Amino acid sequence: MKNQTIVIIGANSEIAKALSLQVIADAKNNDNTQLIVISRELEFYQQESFLQLPSACLNTINVNSYEESEINLAVKKIDLIAMFEITQIYICHGLLHNEQLQPEKRLEDFSPEAFTKILTVNTITPMLWLKNLTPILSDKGDCKIVVFTARVGSISDNRLGGWYSYRSSKAAMNMLLTSTAVELARRAKNIKLISFHPGTTDSPLSKPFQKNVPKGKLFTSQFVAKQLLNIVEHTQLDGKASYLDWEGKSIPW
Ligand SMILES: NC(=O)c1ccc[n+]([C@@H]2O[C@H](COP(=O)([O-])OP(=O)(O)OC[C@H]3O[C@@H](n4cnc5c(N)ncnc54)[C@H](OP(=O)(O)O)[C@@H]3O)[C@@H](O)[C@H]2O)c1
Repeated sequence: MKNQTIVIIGANSEIAKALSLQVIADAKNNDNTQLIVISRELEFYQQESFLQLPSACLNTINVNSYEESEINLAVKKIDLIAMFEITQIYICHGLLHNEQLQPEKRLEDFSPEAFTKILTVNTITPMLWLKNLTPILSDKGDCKIVVFTARVGSISDNRLGGWYSYRSSKAAMNMLLTSTAVELARRAKNIKLISFHPGTTDSPLSKPFQKNVPKGKLFTSQFVAKQLLNIVEHTQLDGKASYLDWEGKSIPW
């Protein structure tokens, strides 16, 4: 197994936490994988099982917010502490609801403030990471960058409507990824972009919407993490963005 550094951003997401645990489990008994996690909230990574790891295995970067200045500083820290070539990056941000906002059921629910907030978290923030990370990845080894989106971001697959802001933020992320892939095919052929739909996964994000999920279709974050790591390992660099679900199947854009 080759030496590698893996970066997980938005690491307090339920799926990100399972990904981190799986990366560490896969690297057990090897000192060839370094994991760097970045979040506003790192309490999960301060538990005993993480503290017992050799210090080189896990590095944490705490951010106060995801303003571009914070992202820029965090990328400088990644560049400084990465011991190996960065082979995989997971960008896990996602907002569907909070105390102030709920996904829209009808047109009258649409609010500019909610739309702006959701776009900021789901689209602008991941794009700022792509913008700031690309310079430290160019001319280096192969790197796959996974941005968590959702199947509801597919324009051609939109049969149910609703959830205007969340849907649009994920569709916009997909357009940003396909456009970025065109530019990277010219200036950073070593980077592969993946837009990933995890399927409905048990997490704070899906909690209020789980009761109508068919039996067997609500995944654990552990299941999704294993699927994703396997998908990423088998995805080849091809100068394009891929839009993949938890089975590794392509989703129409
Ligand atoms: N769960 C599902 O059923 C499902 C289905 C389809 C797609 N997805 C997508 O999968 C990804 C991970 O979802 P999850 O279920 O693991 O979500 P989660 O547990 O609710 O985690 C939320 C994530 O969003 C970030 N975040 C929350 N508020 C933010 C803000 N104001 N600014 C910037 N970042 C913010 C968090 O970053 P911090 O680490 O800094 O807190 C964390 O990475 C998301 O993109 C989601 O849209 C999930």
